[in-house]
Amino acid sequence: MKKFTCVADLKNLSESVKEAFEIKKDRYQFDTLGKNKTLLMIFFNSSLRTRLSTQKAALNLGMNVMVLDVNQGAWKLETERGVVMNGDKPEHLVEAIPVMGCYCDVIGVRSFAQLKDREFDYNETIINQFIKHSGKPVFSMEAATRHPLQSFADLITIEEYKKQERPKVVLSWAPHPNALPQAVPNSFAEWMNATDYEFVITHPEGYELAPEFVGGAVVEYDQMKALEGADFVYAKNWSTYAGDNYGKVLSKDRAWTISAEHMKVTNNAYFMHCLPVRRNMIVTDDVIESPQSLVIPEAANREISATVVLKNIIESL
Ligand code: CP
Repeated sequence: MKKFTCVADLKNLSESVKEAFEIKKDRYQFDTLGKNKTLLMIFFNSSLRTRLSTQKAALNLGMNVMVLDVNQGAWKLETERGVVMNGDKPEHLVEAIPVMGCYCDVIGVRSFAQLKDREFDYNETIINQFIKHSGKPVFSMEAATRHPLQSFADLITIEEYKKQERPKVVLSWAPHPNALPQAVPNSFAEWMNATDYEFVITHPEGYELAPEFVGGAVVEYDQMKALEGADFVYAKNWSTYAGDNYGKVLSKDRAWTISAEHMKVTNNAYFMHCLPVRRNMIVTDDVIESPQSLVIPEAANREISATVVLKNIIESL
């Protein structure tokens, strides 16, 4: 695998899930595969889970790891072409990327949507420059439009906990004080649409995701109706995608916060969220602390999804 930015980069999704379960039985079984191979992890944005789980995955495979926080201790990087660089950014990505590529074998990039220019974000302008200029396999540690390592971990978690072959999975918008990217819900939708699960998306009007991510999912604006009979409830905030309103907060309505009342109409559903989560905005304390909450198993499976992805990349070097 020469790049990993979306579900389509896995050759076969069900084979990859099987591989994840095999790795989970013994995560050190390929501990010499990455010998003398170096992973460079580049963060344009903060992280707890992605940083630790991806590093751990690389260590499981015997790789060396280097981490660069672009906004802390490195030169500030210009990302746009054609700019007169007379401001506070002394280096351009187009030189910095091949330099980074000289020191490693694989590159992971975290570059969130900036939510200013939809075209810039949805063209994946930053990670695509790494793919074009680094000369090395590149994988996403959450880019502008997708978070595939998270979605893969979410799928592994659903496969572990599901009680029927074709569970009902509901992605529900929930309120947040700030404007957040659509990467997690886009990606979750893309991965759910690649399964044969029953998949429903619910959000207030105005929060429609890009059609290419909604795909064949049912969109239900009545949250309670959407949640009826759900086996898994995946809560997430996102800002608006549509037109002139791109990257805006239209609602902070806490009636959408996932509470015990919401969970009552489900099929004793499991609660899921990628974390970090704002309690009593996205989900109430009692729901996230309930035995039905899968937020910690999801986070634990980040190590497994990253190990599968890195293993496949190393095998293609
Ligand atoms: N879920 C997730 O990607 O967490 P971090 O932002 O902490 O890496």
